Amino acid sequence: MTRETPKNLWLSRWGFILAATGSAVGLGNIWKFPYITGEYGGGAFVLMYLACILAIGIPVMMTEIALGRRGRGSPLDAVARVVRESGGNPLWRGMGLMAMLCGFMILCFYVVAASWAFAYTWKMASGALAAPSVEALGQVFEAHNGNPWQLGGWSLLVALLTLWIVGKGVQAGVERAFRWMMPGLALMLLILVGYALSSGKFAAGFAFLFTFDASKITGEALLAALGHAFFTLSLASGAILTYGSYLPDGQSIARTTLVVAIADTCVALLAGLAIFPIIFANGMSPSAGPGLIFMSLPLAFQQMPLGTLFGVLFFAMVSVAALTSAISLLEATAAYLNERHGVSRAKGALGSGALLLVVSLLAMFSFNVGAEWKLFGFTLFDGLDYLTSRWMMPLGGILMVILAGYCLRREIMRDELGLPPAGYALWLFMVRYVSPVLILMVFLHALGWLGFDPIARWYWIAGAIGALAVLGELLAPRVRHELALR
Ligand code: TRP
Repeated sequence: MTRETPKNLWLSRWGFILAATGSAVGLGNIWKFPYITGEYGGGAFVLMYLACILAIGIPVMMTEIALGRRGRGSPLDAVARVVRESGGNPLWRGMGLMAMLCGFMILCFYVVAASWAFAYTWKMASGALAAPSVEALGQVFEAHNGNPWQLGGWSLLVALLTLWIVGKGVQAGVERAFRWMMPGLALMLLILVGYALSSGKFAAGFAFLFTFDASKITGEALLAALGHAFFTLSLASGAILTYGSYLPDGQSIARTTLVVAIADTCVALLAGLAIFPIIFANGMSPSAGPGLIFMSLPLAFQQMPLGTLFGVLFFAMVSVAALTSAISLLEATAAYLNERHGVSRAKGALGSGALLLVVSLLAMFSFNVGAEWKLFGFTLFDGLDYLTSRWMMPLGGILMVILAGYCLRREIMRDELGLPPAGYALWLFMVRYVSPVLILMVFLHALGWLGFDPIARWYWIAGAIGALAVLGELLAPRVRHELALR
């Protein structure tokens, strides 16, 4: 078998881990996780999210990296190549296409959210956030968004910066910056947690995050938790697959996946532990929505010693974290144009950039002049988020595990993952039975097609997994044979 020589290899395992962590850790952890946890009522959501990371996120991420490395190329080409190698149906290519589309759609609203972090770095430094209360800070946030020139200007800046970096191919420089920003961000979060400890409401914040209230489990919340697990790990949208295609042979996919997933989860939980006590201490509602961290954190920075300095550093680090994520979102498209159509990186960035600028400006209008432009009750910003996180990424994920678990020749994934027999058996069990059943149940439940609550009647899930496992193993004696062989 001939393998393509990859154009671009990470120098070490750490190169990949850093880039993948750079992609994973971003606004999803610091902005989105706290605000959707607040909206869906806390502990129950956190538990569902953690379960989704374990049972779905980690197996899917391993699969995605393996597909990328085996196919060595942009999502579309990598999937096509692996499927061809295995003699499968070329229609699977559609999955790669959807992933790239999904990544691009995410990027269009992501730059707007990232622009908040950039703008708040500036506002923090210039003293524009010296407001006395949560209400006043809420007004600052609203005024910022209400002015299309201001929000648009910052969004444009982020979009151009992302395009410039990807076009020049200077990600390495940004990732080098991320290398020391990442510990810095963790340190800053720890300082905030320390401050939260002294706020008098730490226990309330802690309880909010970790007290499980079964009545808060709804189809919507489950879908949100599942979607967020995909979002926060950058799955099923081409980013991780493209990065995986640069991973040298022989490096352990399982170990790298675990490192990235653990780092990502720790940052999110730290952010939650820092933010909720501050919110309760200031009598703010945890369900304040997308502005949550921008209304609460500046107040905390004002009250702590060296607060302005810490505040500027914090928002600057969030900006870099957002930028490394945005880069990974564009990388798949750039790699595709470059490989498939021989378009140079610079031209590819320019071409995809034009579209990005138009769509992201339209998404930016969702906060001001276009607040009333709605389709099915969604503004463009919310709609892009909803469509990608809740539906496209989980759909891409279920397709990916079905491809890897049922359709590819066994040895492809087995060789690529290079796991010891027990580890491989566990991965296979997850992607064949656990992940697809869970994703399907969440879909059916969210659509209201499931006549029961899958968590309250967890034995239904266990039953479905078990039944599918028995059926699957009966129908595929080859697998059993193979597992026994090893
Ligand atoms: N994971 C990033 C975050 O949490 C966002 C992100 C980067 C992303 N690349 C992605 C989300 C690809 C989905 C798909 O902020």
